[in-house]
Amino acid sequence: MALFLTLSSPEPLPPIVGDGVILRLPQMTDYPAWSELREVSRKFLTPWEPIWPADDLTRGAFRQRIRRYSEDMRTDQAYPFFVFRKDDNVLVGGVTLANVRRGVAQSGSLGYWCGLPHIRRGHMSAAVRALAPAAFEMLRLHRLEAACIPTNLASMRLLEKTGFRREGYARGYLCINGIWQDHLLYARLQDDPAP
Ligand SMILES: CC(C)(COP(=O)(O)OP(=O)(O)OC[C@H]1O[C@@H](n2cnc3c(N)ncnc32)[C@H](O)[C@@H]1OP(=O)(O)O)[C@@H](O)C(=O)NCCC(=O)NCCS
Repeated sequence: MALFLTLSSPEPLPPIVGDGVILRLPQMTDYPAWSELREVSRKFLTPWEPIWPADDLTRGAFRQRIRRYSEDMRTDQAYPFFVFRKDDNVLVGGVTLANVRRGVAQSGSLGYWCGLPHIRRGHMSAAVRALAPAAFEMLRLHRLEAACIPTNLASMRLLEKTGFRREGYARGYLCINGIWQDHLLYARLQDDPAP
């Protein structure tokens, strides 16, 4: 895959194609599909995510979100992708590479969510599998990190089947659903064997 990003490049990131899915940058026209999917998935997602602001699903908040995403990419801090089913271009979820650290770290943290109507069909595993080589080759990262609550069996399984290894346990690591929760720490290195 061609190099798609340097810090000074004005080019947007091209879509990343995986098995049955396409990852591309969020855009304003995604608002109706995104807000509908997040709303129908609210009860499913909220135990595993930071607390949703009261206005989170409004068009105005989504506009702010898109602006923040642009700024995050411009400053090389985070790279957000929406995940679409390849067959019919339906939005199924999202994957974000955040907390990019350069210098001697060259690392980033992976986060992901799947809309409730689309879970357990392999879409998110396919998305993470496709994003990992792009992060290593195009963003020149050395290490991808991810963390999940020990009761999140779906997330643990996803990470294990996409080549992440469990490295540790962090107490009170992230404030999820309003509670500082312990997390299992996972990572995949650039030269780890592909799953
Ligand atoms: C984690 C999440 C993205 C997985 O999405 P998904 O679409 O089900 O993922 P996949 O279909 O690719 O499945 C990944 C693996 O997890 C397994 N899995 C999915 N849900 C599971 C569950 N509730 N319990 C146990 N295993 C589960 C799948 O069976 C699959 O393993 P397999 O191939 O060996 O059968 C989704 O459950 C989700 O959005 N959860 C809420 C948000 C969240 O947890 N985000 C991550 C925070 S760390």
